[in-house]
This record gives sequence, structure tokens and C-alpha cells, in this order.
Amino acid sequence: MVIILDFGSQYTQLIARRVREARVYCDILPYNTPLADLRKRKPEAVIISGSPASVSEVGHPTAADGIFNLEIPILGLCYGMHLMTDTLGGEVKSAGKREYGRTMFQVLKRDDLFHGLPARFIAWMSHGDYSARIPAGFEVIGATRSCPAAAFRHRTRPLYGLQFHPEVSHTPKGAEIFHNFLFRIAGCKPNWTMASFIREETTRIRERVGKDQVVSALSGGVDSSVLSVFLHRALGNRLHCIFVDTGLLRAGERESVETTFRKHFHINLTVIDARERFLKKLAGVADPERKRKIIGEEFIRIFEEEARRLGGIKYLAQGTLYPDLIESQSVFGGPTSRIKSHHNVGGLPEKMDLKLIEPFKYLFKDEVRELGAELGLPAEITGRHPFPGPGLAVRILGEITRERLEILRQADRIYIAEIKEAGWYDRIWQALAVLLPIKTVGVMGDARTYENVIALRAVCSKDGMTADFTPIPHPLLGKIANRIINEVKGVNRVVYDVSSKPPATIEWE
Ligand code: XMP
Repeated sequence: MVIILDFGSQYTQLIARRVREARVYCDILPYNTPLADLRKRKPEAVIISGSPASVSEVGHPTAADGIFNLEIPILGLCYGMHLMTDTLGGEVKSAGKREYGRTMFQVLKRDDLFHGLPARFIAWMSHGDYSARIPAGFEVIGATRSCPAAAFRHRTRPLYGLQFHPEVSHTPKGAEIFHNFLFRIAGCKPNWTMASFIREETTRIRERVGKDQVVSALSGGVDSSVLSVFLHRALGNRLHCIFVDTGLLRAGERESVETTFRKHFHINLTVIDARERFLKKLAGVADPERKRKIIGEEFIRIFEEEARRLGGIKYLAQGTLYPDLIESQSVFGGPTSRIKSHHNVGGLPEKMDLKLIEPFKYLFKDEVRELGAELGLPAEITGRHPFPGPGLAVRILGEITRERLEILRQADRIYIAEIKEAGWYDRIWQALAVLLPIKTVGVMGDARTYENVIALRAVCSKDGMTADFTPIPHPLLGKIANRIINEVKGVNRVVYDVSSKPPATIEWE
């Protein structure tokens, strides 16, 4: 396994993904993890991330003393390279102005790190500092026009530094550099597969749970679906899944969950019809954060009632993913800003005296998808677009009523069906329809209409943190708009959202 020391770079998770994609297991640890803890984990290599901090500032964050004497391969990226420079007696300087963007990198010395790469390749730079004088015992192995030491290595020990970012897709040869570091330099084996994950995690869960009962919430989304099938395989009937029909779901969702999980996978599934309860609680509420809070609380209440009714439950399983975990441990101990309060079943374990099981807490979303496929889940589920916990409630701007829910549900059904039909669904990270709180004037036949507006949104993203709008072809948009206006009563206008995140968010509330 490989350890990534996180100095707070926005790219740290990308480093981990590149390593995992190379089928090597890695963990992200805080930058100041004590040496003894690092040693205990017996890593085959360490990668040091970039950072918003600067080595030339006093009090900059540093790694544990002696890290560079671990006698294992270490790769420092950007700040990681500066840290290596500074710690080992070289000198880091501020460049005066930030270098940001693509640049041509020139290999100056053939080295295992660049094995199979051309002499020149495009690299992505994002830095204000540079290694002005490399430490004794090191040699420069690559440069760019503005950076004479853009890559270095120790002459005899496996210590490497890169000024550019091989982890981002703007460095097209980045994956090969990671492969070279992991396999040629660190001698890692590509044995981290979903099959090995299933084997190891199943044993662990069985040992932990013993003869006890586990409850989990099934939403029909990718994470909870894969979690249910995985746990069912490990625990059989000791797993109880609860699906709450909040009335805020998409068309056909409840039926599809029942068919897939109860009929096909034979999972213990309780479906609760709570449509009226949610509508009542949400009556007259237009504020987005209040909607989320009400839905979250009501969900917990229902879940709690049901878990009590089942009786004798000791564990609650949740589909927490690695990014949730990493985002919640802010690197420099500061509070991470909360843009929207995301709803999950948080708060339940303490209240109900349940112990938590989170088998996916070290997995990335694409790994969960792969795991789902390995477990035999249909592509329709593993390839599903994300859907927010509060459901259609945060896509109905303003008050939620039964009628407005139906309008949105039908518009959404047509939108998704059309992009699937046209082969766009799998190229889009998330597509959604939003019902706006305004009416506009239209004309139908000879009559004036005054009806609702539907906004369509589709985005490309890697993880939902940033996103660009997807340029769906205009003729397809036209066809979708036509169908929605003709088939959904109460809609006379459709618009397309062309904003990116940031500054917009993916959902409208
Ligand atoms: P935003 O709108 O914040 O959304 O750009 C980023 C991603 O998160 C999803 N989302 C949620 N998921 N509970 C969830 O489980 C929530 O409350 C929630 N709000 C937003 C959103 O659909 C997008 O994929």
C-alpha cells in the first residue's frame, strides 16, 4: 500500500484516484501523521501532495521529522517537492507571480520515472514557489521554460520531486508517471481489485457482526444499492433494508427498487409509504434549507420507528464514501464551509444506540460502481446519475404540492427517457429537471396560456465538486422541450441551464 500525505491540495483526492486506478491500494493521511504511525502501516511508498501553503512562509506545515529517511520511495508533488528541497538543505523561492496552466516539460535525464515517455510532454503547472537550489545529492531530471528544476531525484536514494501535477488530466502522461513510480521504482503490485475488496471486507464484516442484525436505508441510488447487495451477500437475512417512499421520488422508482431488490436479489426489504407524512410536513415551506431539514428529520423519525419495530437491531450500515470522510477532516483544522446541508441518516446511530458499519468508507464512487458490477447489479443501477437525498423537493422551487410534484415527475421522466434514447445519458454525469416558481405567458391553439416553466440541467463532473454544463445538441433539446410542453399538463415553456459550478451549484436549491 501507498500513503499519500495530504497538505491540503485541491488535487489530493486525484492523486489517490490515480494510484487506485493503477490497482494499488492507498490511504490519504494528514500531513503531520507521526513517523511511528507511518511505519506501522508499512507503506511501499509515500506521495506528498501539493498545498495552498508556501514553504517560504514561516510556520509552514511540515511532515514528521525523519520522513525522508524512511528508506522507501517518496514522490513529492509541487509543495511536496518544495518540502523535500527545504528539509534536505536546498532553497525554495517565490517566483513572484503564479504559474498556472499547461506548459511543455523537457526530460533532461532518462530515468525510470519517465520510462516510455517522450522527451517532451505537456505538464500542468499550478505554483508560486520553485526549488531554486536543489539539495546536495540530488540531480535535475527535467525542466520547463520558466522552471529549470521542474523534476529532480536523489542520485542514490529513491526520492523524487515534480514541480508539475501528474495527477490532473491536463497532464496527459500523468498516469504513466504514476505507473512508473509505483511499479518500476516502488515495486508495488497491481493487486487492489474489487474482487479482493469483496473477499477481505466480507470476512471483516462477518467477524464484526457475528449473529447480530443490521439495518440499512435503501434509496435506490448507486451507493445504497451496492451496499445492500454487498451486505446481503455477506450477511444474508441478518440484513434488513428499509425503503421510504417520501413521495419525492422519480417516476417508477419505488416499483423498480421492489423488483430489483426484493424479487431479484431476495433481500429483506420493508417499503414504507410515507408520502402523506412528508407532504404534510412540507406544506407551505419554500425555504431550501428548511425543506432539507424537515426531510432529514422526518426520514430519521420514520427509519427509527421502523428499526424499533423490527427489533433486536445492533448495527446501522451506511454507504459513506472516501470523499465524505476526507472532506470532513479539514487539513489545517479549520472549519470547512457548508454550502448546502446534505441529508443522510446522520444522527441516528447515537440516538438509537446503533453501531455504525461503513464498508465503503475507503472507496471512491467509481470503485463502488465497479463493485456493483462485480456483484451482478445491472448497469441501469450502477450507471445511474446521482440523486439527492431530499429528492424532487429541492427541484421544486417554492412550495411543494402534490400537483407540482406530478408535473416535475412527468417532465423528468420524459427528459431522462429522451437522453437515454439519444445515447447521451452515459455521457452526462447528472441530468435533472427543475420546476420554477414562476408562470409565463404562452399561446396554445387560439388561447392564451399562463403556465409553469421547466428548467433542464445536465452537467459533466468527476465528483460533483465542480461541474460544467453539458452541451446537449439543440435539436435534442428542442425535441425534449416539445414533448414536455405537449405531454405535461401545466407547462408551457422549457429553458436550459448553461451555468457551471462554481459559481452555480448543480441542484437549484
Ligand atoms: P450541489 O447542488 O451542491 O450538488 O452542486 C452536488 C451533488 O450533490 C447532490 N446533492 C445531494 N445529495 N443529499 C444528497 O445525498 C443532499 O441533500 C444533496 N444535495 C445535493 C447533487 O444532486 C449533486 O449530485
